[in-house]
Amino acid sequence: VRTRPPASNVTMATVTRLCVTKSIPTVNGRFPGPKVVVREGDRLVVQVHNNINSNLTFHWHGVRQLRSGWADGPSYITQCPIRPGRSYAYDFRVVGQRGTLWWHAHFSWLRATLYGPLVILPPRGVPYPFPKPDGGEVPLMLGEWFNADPDAVIRQALRTGGGPNVSDAYTFNGLPGPTYNCSAADTFRLRVQPGRTYMLRLVNAALNDELFFAVANHTLTVVAADASYVKPFAATTLVISPGQTMDVLLAAAATPPAPAFAIAVAPYTNTVGTFDNTTAVATLEYAPLQGGAAALRSLPSPALPLYNDTGAVANFSANFRSLASARYPARVPRSVDRKFFFAVGLGADPCRSRVNGTCQGPNGTRFAASMNNVSFTMPKTSLLQAHYQRRYGGVLTANFPSAPPVPFNYTGAPPNNTFVMHGTRVVPLAFNTTVEVVLQDTSILGAESHPLHLHGYDFFVVGQGFGNYAAANDTARYNLVDPVQRNTVSVPTAGWVAIRFVADNPGVWIMHCHLDVHLSWGLAMAWLVNDGPLLNQKLPPPPSDIPKC
Ligand code: C2O
Repeated sequence: VRTRPPASNVTMATVTRLCVTKSIPTVNGRFPGPKVVVREGDRLVVQVHNNINSNLTFHWHGVRQLRSGWADGPSYITQCPIRPGRSYAYDFRVVGQRGTLWWHAHFSWLRATLYGPLVILPPRGVPYPFPKPDGGEVPLMLGEWFNADPDAVIRQALRTGGGPNVSDAYTFNGLPGPTYNCSAADTFRLRVQPGRTYMLRLVNAALNDELFFAVANHTLTVVAADASYVKPFAATTLVISPGQTMDVLLAAAATPPAPAFAIAVAPYTNTVGTFDNTTAVATLEYAPLQGGAAALRSLPSPALPLYNDTGAVANFSANFRSLASARYPARVPRSVDRKFFFAVGLGADPCRSRVNGTCQGPNGTRFAASMNNVSFTMPKTSLLQAHYQRRYGGVLTANFPSAPPVPFNYTGAPPNNTFVMHGTRVVPLAFNTTVEVVLQDTSILGAESHPLHLHGYDFFVVGQGFGNYAAANDTARYNLVDPVQRNTVSVPTAGWVAIRFVADNPGVWIMHCHLDVHLSWGLAMAWLVNDGPLLNQKLPPPPSDIPKC
């Protein structure tokens, strides 16, 4: 089956939120962008026309892109950007994934407004592994709204070396809701029938904040994450990191205790003072709404954890298990060929460009972010193109370190040199290498967890803990039976997470923090996965319309 949605014209459109009217990049004039629905196995072709005054690419977040890396989309990794006035057709198959993923722009901070859901239904005739929700399915995208131009916000921050301004609101499908200035009319309203069950397809599309999510008086059942089914579990509060998706069942009460309830989101972060600490509200309304609009004025509200409740986050993430059934087996690698240890965190650069005589980062430095002290330099041409032509000189170096320069110790004094090195460094991998990466949060400058996203793969989350990762004990405790399979995992504040994957997808795949500010500061690296010996293990040539740099 070939799914060919109408062509996507990226155009500026006028939108008003929080009483601020401005022109924002949109797809076909819509914000958020259109929902794309496919069945597993479909081929999807999306013709993108760039009609805005900026370079642009689109990424199909979480889609494995098996041997279709040319369609993955991160700018300067798998393609040069689509220039203003130009077009490019993303052409790929969706294989082996079911649930909710999403698409978003992957150039600068354009994804602030250019995003939408990607729903992957099972093949025709194949049921969900849970009772079909008789009320319906609702994509619910959590986002961040900036009154300023988000692209200008990050450009300014990079120029001064300081932190960017934070957003002005969180949104539900683009709507901030009644807790914000003049936004009551812009409230997302979920209308349900008593006694029916609904599936919320949740996506955290926020630029820079992990979010708590809860519905007053309702327990949610999580059934899938990142387009992989999980063993269903109940939760009153969800934690969802930028990049992550979650399918949850919401059972509407047969006799609800109130006519309507608040659905709320608020940030989880440990970095005091540098985040948008507002709470956004949408409404869950039982139809027909008893008491009319007055019922919406005093909504029962859920009790969300405190912004820095790391314990609540850890407890929630511990619930995820893949189905690991006969029908949905978990093919967890039991042994590994190559082990890596990545120290993940924020760091600093010596001040180079001076603003008012000093850089605005910590102690007069510039903010930077790194893995193993290497801050990723975005190349000027496509890494995948360089790889395909085997012309690496001046583009990348194949020496990304497999461990940090100084062994990391959480409990000891922080290393005195937190300055980073720069480079477009990659790890080359032979086809079918089994990889383990332990990601250790360093939290040298302020504690914050890092939602690490890997392109081109789903990985198994085999272990997770606080403090220093200790190979001897922690490896023995890995879950190799039913670990959750994801494309984005949060490296916890003051802790670590271990992931495994098999490098069976040739191409160049970026792995980066999905907090856009950290990506802009260089929290990224790339895996260069070589072709295998067989024809169906090789990366095909680039499509003829691939943009040029
Ligand atoms: Cu959703 Cu590279 O990102």
